Order: sequence, then structure tokens, then C-alpha cells
Amino acid sequence: MAVVEAVRAAVGADMPLTARIGVEDSLPNGVSREESVERARLLETAGIDGLETTYGIMRSYLENIRPYVAVGARQTASELLVQRVLKPRGAEAYYRPFARAIKEATGVLVILVGGIRTTDAMNDIIGSGDADFLAMARPFIREPDLGNKLAAGRTGMVECVSCNMCLAHDGYDALQCWRKSPRSVARPLAGHHWRTGEDADAVEGGLAPQARLEPVPSRAVQAQV
Ligand SMILES: Cc1cc2nc3c(=O)[nH]c(=O)nc-3n(C[C@H](O)[C@H](O)[C@H](O)COP(=O)(O)O)c2cc1C
Ligand code: SF4
Repeated sequence: MAVVEAVRAAVGADMPLTARIGVEDSLPNGVSREESVERARLLETAGIDGLETTYGIMRSYLENIRPYVAVGARQTASELLVQRVLKPRGAEAYYRPFARAIKEATGVLVILVGGIRTTDAMNDIIGSGDADFLAMARPFIREPDLGNKLAAGRTGMVECVSCNMCLAHDGYDALQCWRKSPRSVARPLAGHHWRTGEDADAVEGGLAPQARLEPVPSRAVQAQV
């Protein structure tokens, strides 16, 4: 609260002010969604304009940066995703219930991040009002011009398969999609910095089936790492 108030005082009333908050901890007895909704109300009072929803304390980075989101059989085969064969595909837009909870309780703009992979889902999220903005990290690492593609009417699934090789290289090498690089297997095989831990449990809530695919308004999409 004090930080938000101080930043607001420093930047003035016209500057948009946003923050990322952990809506729940994945550890037992951690921060609850109810507490976070209350916190969001207080932050709104303090002058925040927008909130981006995520986990707070996690057992592993992989709970936030989840592998193989929305990757189906065809992509598994075409990208030779051996590990994906052994795992279920990750659910898309896994923080959507967090975003909806904050939207319902406050007037702040809500930014949704985490496993947004298809234009079908993007349209559904924005159309339902569960979030005001969409943020993506790994899809923009693989396709830096994704925003332009979406603005031009691109539909379907992004190219990123959430293999997390870029995460394995994070802090050691340039930020890039390592999936197609010959060096891509070097770091994981060498055991460098591969964030270990259990995969996340599924967060409640999924995607409603959507009959139509429509271009996503690019002003609602943001690149982020
Ligand atoms: C290489 C990499 C580095 C990241 N670094 C951070 C970080 O420093 N702080 C943070 O809150 N999230 C970080 N993230 C998480 C992303 O901001 C995002 O929440 C997560 O990747 C899920 O979104 P996505 O499915 O669009 O990738 C990082 C993600 C990646 C792939
Ligand atoms: S290495 Fe490429 S395909 Fe794999 S998660 Fe990162 S951006 Fe996506």
C-alpha cells in the first residue's frame, strides 16, 4: 500500500500504474484468493490502475511457467516432443480464475498471463470480460513479431510449445527460443539450472469451446518476460 501510494504520488495521476500480484500461494496454508481479492481492493484505493494475476509462493518455477500448454498430438509429433508423450497437455490460460475473481471484485484493469496459446482462447477471455489485457512471455520469445501477426489477423495456435528450454538457458545465454537450435539440448542434458519440482496441479476453470475464430485486438496483447 505504502509503495503504491508513494509511486502514485511520484508519477502523478495520469501515469498508468500496474503491478503483478500472487493471488494464491501453491503451498498449503499460503495466501488465499479471498485475501488477495481484499488486497486488490486496497491497492485500488491506493491508486493502482491494473493488476496482473499469478501465483505468489511456489514450490517450483514450473508451477508458473508450465510445460506443454495446449500442445496436442500433432504438435507433439511435429516438434518431436518426447517428454510431452509422458505428460498430459497443460491447460490453457491457467490463471484465468484468478483474473475473474479480481475483475468481479474491483474496478481495476486486469492483465492475464500464463499459458495463453490460441486465438480462440484470447477471444474468449477478452469477450467474456474475465480480463482486459492479455500478456504472453514464451510465445513472444519464439515469435517476437507475434503482436503484428495477431493484428494482421493470424488465428490458431502460437508456435511456442512451452518446452521451457528458454527457461533452462535463462541467466546463462541470450533470451531466445532454443527449440530449433542444435545447442538446445546442451543445457538441459548438462543439468544446468533446470528448475526442478513437481508440475503444477491443474487450476480450476477451463476454456469454453468457441465456435468462431476472430482476430485478436492487438492493443489487448502485451509481450512479457
Ligand atoms: C525465460 C523466462 C524468464 C522469466 N522470468 C520471470 C521473472 O523474472 N519474474 C517473473 O515474475 N516471471 C518471470 N517469468 C514468467 C513469465 O512472466 C510468465 O508469467 C510465465 O512464463 C507464464 O506465461 P507464458 O505461458 O505466456 O510464458 C519468466 C518466464 C520465462 C520463460
Ligand atoms: S524454447 Fe521456444 S518453444 Fe520452448 S518454451 Fe521457450 S519459446 Fe517456447
